[in-house]
Amino acid sequence: MVPNLSGRSVLKVVDYEPAELRFLLDRSAALKADKKAGQEERLLTGKNIALIFEKTSTRTRAAFEVAAFDQGAHITYFDPAGSQMGHKESIADTARVLGRMYDAIQYRGSAQDNVETLAEFAGVPVYNGLTNEWHPTQMLADFLTMEEHTEKPLHETTFAFLGDGRYNMGRSLLVMGALMGCDVRIVGPTDLAPPEDVISLAEGIATETGAQITITDDPIAGVAGADFVHTDVWVSMGEPKEVWVSRVEQLTDYQVNASLMAATGVEDTKFLHCLPAFHNTLTTIGGDIIAETNMPDGLEVTHEVFESEASIVFDQAENRMHTVKAILVESLT
Ligand code: CP
Ligand code: NVA
Repeated sequence: MVPNLSGRSVLKVVDYEPAELRFLLDRSAALKADKKAGQEERLLTGKNIALIFEKTSTRTRAAFEVAAFDQGAHITYFDPAGSQMGHKESIADTARVLGRMYDAIQYRGSAQDNVETLAEFAGVPVYNGLTNEWHPTQMLADFLTMEEHTEKPLHETTFAFLGDGRYNMGRSLLVMGALMGCDVRIVGPTDLAPPEDVISLAEGIATETGAQITITDDPIAGVAGADFVHTDVWVSMGEPKEVWVSRVEQLTDYQVNASLMAATGVEDTKFLHCLPAFHNTLTTIGGDIIAETNMPDGLEVTHEVFESEASIVFDQAENRMHTVKAILVESLT
């Protein structure tokens, strides 16, 4: 039976059944193929979508805007200083106002509770464009990208995430991997491991889906046999810049470099990163931190790996748009 996702919010991946996620991945691939063939059908003509960003963005904003435009919908972008929400008006009140005017709302901010409250009061679908806890729209892009770069079905693939497992990307990859039945390794220092409740959640899902879950501080054992290696920035949006130096010390052994990629033992392991990435000195933050910490070749990933044949990060970035489009089309028709 084809899942019916009409009217559904996307707040975190665990709210979805594996079959529903499978359906969204298939719809994403179909919509991508249609666009590339010049055969896209406009299914969202006349729809209006509010995009609230309390943190900065390149990919997520672009993905929602282009997906909406391609499908004939209109958007309003609220920048981090551009709405009354939170400081002059409660989230519940903002939700009820926007829900009267818009067909859907995207929210990027800090607390997961905020996006859950928006969804509770808006009366229209709400999409989580990243909170500290979860990044569900990124998950569809990451899994579509992995599928595009392997002959194996997802439940036969092995992937490792290296870095801060407490934050949105580590937690989301752990739970999404569990839902899709993958061999999942979350690799980083014990202090930065995902919280126990998230590990238990993933382990519970794994008993149903056949996923393998490993949480380890051993980078070499953690990546052994990995078809895909993921990482993320070492300091996330909303964290104070003062944590950079100690975080670099904690995570240096988990940098994705050529020897770590070789340690998978898999000939064609691919590299993924949600981006933005600190792999050179061409950004103000990256340049300052690399200079201050004497990390010669990049932070979470070396320039060599980032620019290598193994790197599929720009396919992954493009897929943000196709997967967001699938979410918009399926929730708004
Ligand atoms: N990956 C991602 O969410 O990128 P942006 O912060 O640019 O939206
Ligand atoms: N963990 C990162 C992800 C960026 C897409 C952050 O929250 O800044």
